[in-house]
Amino acid sequence: MSTKSKTIVSTEQSQSAQKQAKFYIITYGCQMNSYDSQLMSSILEKEGYHRAQSIDQADIIIINTCSVREHAVNRAISRVESLKPLKKKNPQIRIGITGCIPQQMKNSLLEKLPFIDFILGPDNFQEIASCAKDTNGIFTDFKESLIYSKYAPPARGNFPEAFVAVMRGCNNFCSYCVVPYTRGKEKSRSIDDICHEVNILSKKGYKRVILLGQNVNNFNDTGKRLPYLLSKIVRIKGIERIGFLTSHPAYFPLETIDIMKDEPKIEKFLHLPLQSGSSKILKLMKRNYTKSSYISIIEKVRNKIDDIFLSTDIIVGFPGESEDDFSETIEIIKKISFDSAYMFIYSPRRFTLANSFNDFIGKEVKNQRLRELIRVQSEITKKKSKAYKGKILDILITGKNKKNYLESIGISVYNKIVVVKEQINKGEIVKVSINDVKGWTPIGEIFSRKGDIKRKKVRN
Ligand code: SAH
Ligand code: SF4
Ligand code: F3S
Repeated sequence: MSTKSKTIVSTEQSQSAQKQAKFYIITYGCQMNSYDSQLMSSILEKEGYHRAQSIDQADIIIINTCSVREHAVNRAISRVESLKPLKKKNPQIRIGITGCIPQQMKNSLLEKLPFIDFILGPDNFQEIASCAKDTNGIFTDFKESLIYSKYAPPARGNFPEAFVAVMRGCNNFCSYCVVPYTRGKEKSRSIDDICHEVNILSKKGYKRVILLGQNVNNFNDTGKRLPYLLSKIVRIKGIERIGFLTSHPAYFPLETIDIMKDEPKIEKFLHLPLQSGSSKILKLMKRNYTKSSYISIIEKVRNKIDDIFLSTDIIVGFPGESEDDFSETIEIIKKISFDSAYMFIYSPRRFTLANSFNDFIGKEVKNQRLRELIRVQSEITKKKSKAYKGKILDILITGKNKKNYLESIGISVYNKIVVVKEQINKGEIVKVSINDVKGWTPIGEIFSRKGDIKRKKVRN
């Protein structure tokens, strides 16, 4: 039954072999990378390839990678190395590395992993079909314009939620960050193109779209900005929830919050990476805002939507971060009281400005700061989660509760993940009354389904 012998003899045979060939994609990194993996799947499926259910059934293995921190690179590279015996046993298998690591490492990646057939940077996914077939090599040219319009991804896998990239790249060059070097300059898609993709998703029954950009508030289609794009997407029938990621505090127009407030379909959720609570460190990071200007944005946002769900990213151990700087971070975390935070130890990256900064902070100090930050934030997240008790929320069901298949999980318009004590189909929106909170997770029972006459379910 194996289809691994993809020997190309004649065009006819080659086409039929190609029809049967199966691909498997392993994805690391951010939401944009998940989107890109869907994009590659879409291109390959259009060419007649099929998805393999597991890696050992695959003729083509693609590892879509992230290089934002050293740890992410090591993890992806050791996964690739683990495929070497597979390739040795069956040299017909084609293995490729895609995404941010190839873009950063280029030739040196193939020198390190010579059994790899091809590597593709984030602007070169259109080559995936020929690489899957028989083209070997390195494809890492940045493209001036966006080239993926015709491959609207089918976004399978996460139903009823889908990512939609609305722009790619980043012009900011924060001093620690590799992304501008791996993703190139900012490029926005056209609004027509985006709406076309969201329409396809809606026809397939998707209910939630998350608009993606490294710096999504810089979205600009010939002068039309993110609020305008959002106003178009809210009109697409069938799409009930719309979110967007990631906003940059230095380029955050408050009109975005106005439309968030006025449109019930737009999620009351803002991810606004702070990175550090010290203005001295923010300057070294080249973030273009200060501690007080960040606090002022949060105040303005909360004046408009007081219970908005706020999340952030924090880096500890950036070169030059003193105990006082770190204390300022802890202070602002407590003051703002974020609903959630992603927290990292600074990782020096090649090409970036901060890579040349003197880094005198010891490993143990960095670890200790991260532990302390996580401890403080966990308490805050727990406290904020407890406040959900007694609320009645509209929950979009996104799947089964993996810990108990008789229960479902879903998400509120405030981006809060909730357990619902009943089996409900994915994509349904139900009114849930929260009567318990375990750790960070509110747990509820059905109050009513959409369209139902409001009913309170009585349970024994
Ligand atoms: N575009 C987004 C974030 C992209 S990377 C923004 O500007 O906010 C996601 C997060 O990874 C960043 O917010 C930052 O907190 C973290 N990060 C990026 N480079 C890093 C590095 N060199 N070391 C540690 N964390 C890093
Ligand atoms: Fe990286 Fe800064 Fe761009 Fe975010 S805004 S992707 S942190 S350079
Ligand atoms: Fe990683 Fe590239 Fe995303 S470096 S965070 S996969 S843009």
